[in-house]
Amino acid sequence: MLETLKKEEIKVLFSEEDIAAKIKELGETISDDYKDTESLIIVGVLKGSFMFTADLVRQIKVPCQMEFIKLSSYEDGTESSGKIKAVDLSLPALEGKDVLIVEDIVDSGRTAKFLKDYFDNQVETETCKIAALFDKPSRRLAEFKDIQADYTGFVIDDHFIVGYGLDYAQKFRELPYVGCIELD
Ligand code: IMP
Ligand code: MG
Repeated sequence: MLETLKKEEIKVLFSEEDIAAKIKELGETISDDYKDTESLIIVGVLKGSFMFTADLVRQIKVPCQMEFIKLSSYEDGTESSGKIKAVDLSLPALEGKDVLIVEDIVDSGRTAKFLKDYFDNQVETETCKIAALFDKPSRRLAEFKDIQADYTGFVIDDHFIVGYGLDYAQKFRELPYVGCIELD
């Protein structure tokens, strides 16, 4: 019963140490890639990437500005239409800036595609890349098959994962590690 699932029952896939080591690596690569950038803007996607964003920026050695964005699905009654919109958007003008979006996970690819299009075409940033801690390529929808983060932490099989910011029904975000649960 998922409703009564306790954290002790979650199988750990990535420990705190695994995650920290991976983020250090990502931070080094990103710092190198952006070493000549004067105005790097980090945009964390709430809520799932809050922990990853906080740890990643501490491993990025170039000055950066922090912003956050929240997304939601358009709903038709109780049905999700699969379309995404940006909410709580109080971003400053980022036109002409170098933006690095920080996401928790790329799954179907719909969110990543939306974010790329949004920043490229509406915000009109100079550059826009995505860093995602996890990628589940086997779940990618055909229409988003070419969508991939520019920086990926871990590629995983088709598991539903929780912890380190990721939730199941708003639970388990606070766990410092990532584990998987079976959704049957
Ligand atoms: P996509 O738009 O299907 O690529 O899904 C992206 C979003 O779905 C992520 O930002 C997460 O919020 C959520 N998501 C996808 N897979 C998982 C998972 O395994 N655990 C928790 N959230 C997930
Ligand atoms: Mg998310």
